[in-house]
Amino acid sequence: MEIKTIGVVGCGLMGAGIVETCAKSGYTVKVREINDELLQAGLARIEASLKKAVKRGKLDEADSKLAWERITGTIQLEALKDSDLVIEAAVENMELKKEIFAALDKICPAHTILSSNTSSLSITEIASATQRPEQVIGLHFFNPVPVMPLLEIVRALLTSDETLKISREFGDSVNKTTVVAKDTPGFIVNLLLIPFLLDTIRAYESGMATKEDIDTGIKLGLNHPMGPLTLADFVGLDTTLFVADAMYDEFKDSRYAAPPLLRRMVMAGKMGKKSGAGFYDYE
Ligand code: CAA
Repeated sequence: MEIKTIGVVGCGLMGAGIVETCAKSGYTVKVREINDELLQAGLARIEASLKKAVKRGKLDEADSKLAWERITGTIQLEALKDSDLVIEAAVENMELKKEIFAALDKICPAHTILSSNTSSLSITEIASATQRPEQVIGLHFFNPVPVMPLLEIVRALLTSDETLKISREFGDSVNKTTVVAKDTPGFIVNLLLIPFLLDTIRAYESGMATKEDIDTGIKLGLNHPMGPLTLADFVGLDTTLFVADAMYDEFKDSRYAAPPLLRRMVMAGKMGKKSGAGFYDYE
């Protein structure tokens, strides 16, 4: 099976990055948002990122134009009916994802692979909403999608060898290095990242150092591109909490228990960079 047309569900931060990455690699991409306002915001995000790539010398002006022309926006899920691969990047809500996958299962032809960019929900459970669980897989990209070189592929209990093979080839075709994880909470990267971020927040909460010194310590002491509190703001404190809670629910291990400060910051609307404030101010 050759993938030519890709459908993306959701044009938020991750969805927009996925659309851009696929279009730059030559795929025809249709992206669906739930209303026109969100769709226009998502398309504007893609346009801005393509311009940034040209400005940084990562992309030719002509290639940027070609990529942009391969992208179509829609507010109808039915418009994704011609997709060979669908990548769902909607909000992290299992009931919503099951509804989307059940609908896609009816809309899309028999050969279509249905995938989710979820960072914490079970692909096996999402697949249970369809009649084609062997063609359901996790394709977990990293933020910022156009820049981060990894694609984490999540093989659910019933995912077929063929679906895994096609997904790996797709990862290669969009210039990502692929790793394959089983369908367990956090997969590979978040299984190890989330306890690290939670420990950092616990360290800050205990008053052992300033946030700036914790970040500088890790950034310069371990050569990380960002300090962990900056990274938590960048990932989103609500997302960090959501993934931690999902992992704690499953493992009941205190390593995944969210520190009170994190939960309270989210309750107070401090979601990190996207909300204008988290551990740091971004206004
Ligand atoms: N398109 C293409 N390339 C772009 C680009 C764009 N729109 N914007 C920037 N770039 C390129 C730049 O040209 C640059 O490349 P070179 O180094 O080859 O010159 C590179 O990307 C870095 O860009 P910047 O100089 O603008 O930014 P920076 O050096 O300050 O790095 C960063 C920014 C890439 C975000 C870096 O700080 C970083 O890697 N941070 C960590 C990010 C991370 O860990 N993300 C994963 C989060 S976890 C997750 O996503 C999963 C989950 O489920 C929670």
